[in-house]
Amino acid sequence: MITNSKTSLPLQFLLTTLIIAVTETSAITVYKVSCTSNKTFTPNSTFHTNLNTLLSSLSSNATNNLRFSNATAGKEDSDTVYGLYMCRGDVSFSVCIECVDSATHDIASNCPTAKEAVIWYKMCLLRYSYRFIFSKMEEWPRCQYKIPLGDPVVLHSDGFYNALRSMFSVLPNEAGLALSGSNDGYAVKQQNASGTLTLYGFAQCTPDLSAGDCNRCVVDAAAEFPKVCCGGSIGASVFFPSCVVRYETFPFVYQDSGTSPLTMIKGDRSIPTRAIIVIVLVFVVILVMLSCFGYYFFKVKARKKRKTSVKEREKFGPEIISLESLQFDLATIEGATNNFSQERRIGKGGYGEVYKGILLDGEEIAVKRLSTNSKQGMEEFKNEVLLIAKLQHKNLVRLIGFCQEDEEKILIYEYMPNKSLDHFLFDIQKQRHLTWSERFKIIKGIARGILYLHEDSRLKIIHRDIKPSNVLLDNDMNPKISDFGMARMVATDQIQGCTKRVMGTFGYMSPEYAMHGQFSEKSDVFSFGVMVLEIISGKKNYYSFESDRIDHLLSNAWNQWRDESPFQMLDPILVESYCPNEVEKCIQLGLLCVQENPDDRPTMGTIISYLNNPSIEMPFPQEPAFFMQGRKRRYSTEHEPLSGHSTNHSFSSTTTLNKMSTTNFFPR
Ligand SMILES: *[C@@H]1O[C@H](CO)[C@@H](O)[C@H](O)[C@H]1NC(C)=O
Ligand SMILES: *[C@@H]1O[C@H](CO)[C@@H](O)[C@H](O)[C@H]1NC(C)=O
Ligand SMILES: *[C@@H]1O[C@H](CO)[C@@H](O)[C@H](O)[C@H]1NC(C)=O
Ligand SMILES: *[C@@H]1O[C@H](CO)[C@@H](O)[C@H](O)[C@H]1NC(C)=O
Ligand SMILES: *[C@@H]1O[C@H](CO)[C@@H](O)[C@H](O)[C@H]1NC(C)=O
Repeated sequence: MITNSKTSLPLQFLLTTLIIAVTETSAITVYKVSCTSNKTFTPNSTFHTNLNTLLSSLSSNATNNLRFSNATAGKEDSDTVYGLYMCRGDVSFSVCIECVDSATHDIASNCPTAKEAVIWYKMCLLRYSYRFIFSKMEEWPRCQYKIPLGDPVVLHSDGFYNALRSMFSVLPNEAGLALSGSNDGYAVKQQNASGTLTLYGFAQCTPDLSAGDCNRCVVDAAAEFPKVCCGGSIGASVFFPSCVVRYETFPFVYQDSGTSPLTMIKGDRSIPTRAIIVIVLVFVVILVMLSCFGYYFFKVKARKKRKTSVKEREKFGPEIISLESLQFDLATIEGATNNFSQERRIGKGGYGEVYKGILLDGEEIAVKRLSTNSKQGMEEFKNEVLLIAKLQHKNLVRLIGFCQEDEEKILIYEYMPNKSLDHFLFDIQKQRHLTWSERFKIIKGIARGILYLHEDSRLKIIHRDIKPSNVLLDNDMNPKISDFGMARMVATDQIQGCTKRVMGTFGYMSPEYAMHGQFSEKSDVFSFGVMVLEIISGKKNYYSFESDRIDHLLSNAWNQWRDESPFQMLDPILVESYCPNEVEKCIQLGLLCVQENPDDRPTMGTIISYLNNPSIEMPFPQEPAFFMQGRKRRYSTEHEPLSGHSTNHSFSSTTTLNKMSTTNFFPR
């Protein structure tokens, strides 16, 4: 977060204050728990009891307005537990109490039997051990957090590193002195880097250390700043059991309202809640005004020049994306996902498991851990990541970054709280939350997302696995397509691995793709069509090799359409809310998309114009591709020969066949 010189001063003040306000509220973001020792205790043992006593007395010490406290529990030597906590010296007592309270709970639940553990939060640390740990400087275990999105230009400037170096040449000593000083035991420093950029540094040791130990601890911790030499990070924190260091490009230490951003005031420095509310309100009002203005401005412009604006965004958008700015380190991801813990697992896709992660700054992310058997080279992987990151559209899930270390390949996406469309569509309880107008909005959004992949982005991307579980929903139920570009990424793998596997999901795959592996934009159009019919009917398009089911979604939709009763397929929940014209149009559109011959299917561009313009006439659909049945047909025809022009519906019932062969009637 670089302070922008162009931002007006009041706005800058507001932003800075807001950052601090937000930091305050996310104070209990857990960074990492480390169950240090492989020595364990048995549940309900004396040690366990002592540990519980220790944790509750630490917690109660915090309520006595202490930012640091140590405690000992137990008399017998072997079962004594030693523990301490330290809150960041600048946080308010209320934050400290909250943080320590969370820490005592989390450390117990995350390390249920460890005889030694440490937990780091944004605003506090807490540790306990069977060993006497007071007055000893300890550097292990450790963890670091960095703000991954750095501006490469800034990071590569000498000014930046000189400022960082010069700041941390004085901070260790000052942190040591601060232990006996009046400043709640922490040291801060501010350094002009270059031009408008200012760096802010912070160091704090646990107060039981000597000044010399503290000095050493801070020196060693600062040496851990990520790749300081070669373009690391715009902001970072390093946590040791005995000290914490941090630098940022914005003032993050709580301050009084005085002139210097790092002036300390004594006592409780929490920003009064009322002040926060006022600031946030003012900010929100400004934001709303700005966005209304922007929306109006954009809308007027967009109407005139929609195409150019997309082109322009492409031209200028991707330039600010660089690999460095996308790269996360594994420690950060492990911290954010509790070491890929089961509670954080939110799904399993075709390409690997997905976890929910929370970054230190409170941002929620979705972490996709790719299956590791991939043989793709590092450079290739990075190139693909960069390509995917450049695909930006409001109906595509945004790629935030990636991580590649050791065997791990990880993609990091924005987090979508509402999960995927299939969770709503095929769940009897949640179905009813999807009104017709929402479903129509979702259909249009998906179409726009696919169109962007096919035509508007600089790359032509064929998704190859369009289906409801790959459509995520944001808070306002706007659809966002996920897993795009994965086929590309995996495809390069396949060439190397010499496996030619058809990606995709039965039920959504076009016949030419499923049977001959041929894919084109029109295979995505087919999948889109299936999905549109699913959204309308609320039913899944099942395919099964085993069963002889013929009442699947496509044939039903087709039969009812042909019988001039298209609304029979409508999800019963929609009967109250649907708009007949739109529904009928969407059914027709869905059927156009699932036609057997790819050339007969409309392009995404045409689909969008159908959806946006009620007045455009759509062609009549041909019968859908019943390709699974088509496969069985060979087997079936021997038993049940059919008349010439209805060979494609050998799996339809006889009555249907009769209708089919005797009439060419289509509604309207
Ligand atoms: C775990 O215990 C074994 C022996 O009991 C020891 O060799 C090893 O270093 C210990 N590991 C850790 C991380 O403490
Ligand atoms: C520990 O004590 C609790 C309650 O006192 C009991 O429910 C639990 O089963 C005990 N666990 C063991 C391993 O003895
Ligand atoms: C911390 O809490 C324990 C138990 O509540 C108490 O005995 C002890 O004196 C407290 N320590 C400090 C430094 O206040
Ligand atoms: C706190 O730590 C000091 C050493 O720094 C130790 O002498 C003292 O006994 C500890 N207090 C408690 C309550 O454990
Ligand atoms: C940093 O730069 C500002 C002006 O940009 C100046 O007023 C201030 O004195 C400088 N601070 C230091 C420590 O050099």
